[in-house]
Amino acid sequence: MRNVYEMNHPLIQHKLTLIRDKDTGAKQFRELVKEISTLLAYEVTRDFPLEDVEVETPVCVTKSKIIKGKKVGIVPILRAGLGMVDGFLDLIPAAKVGHVGLYRDPETLEPVEYYCKMPPDISERDLIVVDPMLATGGSARAAIRFIKDRGATNIKFVCLIGCPEGIKALHTEHPDVDIYIASIDEKLNDHAYIVPGLGDAGDRLFGTK
Ligand code: PRP
Ligand code: URA
Repeated sequence: MRNVYEMNHPLIQHKLTLIRDKDTGAKQFRELVKEISTLLAYEVTRDFPLEDVEVETPVCVTKSKIIKGKKVGIVPILRAGLGMVDGFLDLIPAAKVGHVGLYRDPETLEPVEYYCKMPPDISERDLIVVDPMLATGGSARAAIRFIKDRGATNIKFVCLIGCPEGIKALHTEHPDVDIYIASIDEKLNDHAYIVPGLGDAGDRLFGTK
């Protein structure tokens, strides 16, 4: 697929191995998710346009570059997406944050919306939807549907671990959305968990297992 990017930087891959480990506790898991998110933010912002400005160094006046008037929104899918927000804000501190609350019904595996609060100028912003896991794709598809219904047009989706099933489902419904993934894993199991994956991202972040 044209707009699916796997981020195979060695630092990202190394830290992913640590969060996959079942013996990694919640504190370290949270720290690593934040660090990986910062590295992903670096990659995802590669296409931000630049403009020339004049700056006076201690030596002379010169032309240099700044990011051209971007308005960015970070949109975590609750709960687990919260773990990625600070990593993005470290690099894009002026971004606004919108929240979409969804959980997978354990019986039907369908996403159920329980919260949505977006910045008022959502249609003018480049939105980066974040969630550590892209499994069936149901949550990401629904979250992006909700924010498109509220006026969003320019959307990227960023996750730590995905699988072919989720990528296909998300891309089919939202072909306009670029998908950035730290690792594309093998498959889903019978309980719609990613294999090998890292287990339940929300439970591991917040210690709720
Ligand atoms: C997890 C994860 C995604 C979703 C992915 O959230 O954070 O949002 O599952 O699965 P899907 O692609 O099949 O929809 P979960 O529903 O466990 O809620 P939580 O973040 O509150 O733990
Ligand atoms: N949600 C998770 O947190 N982990 C998975 O493997 C699948 C969905």
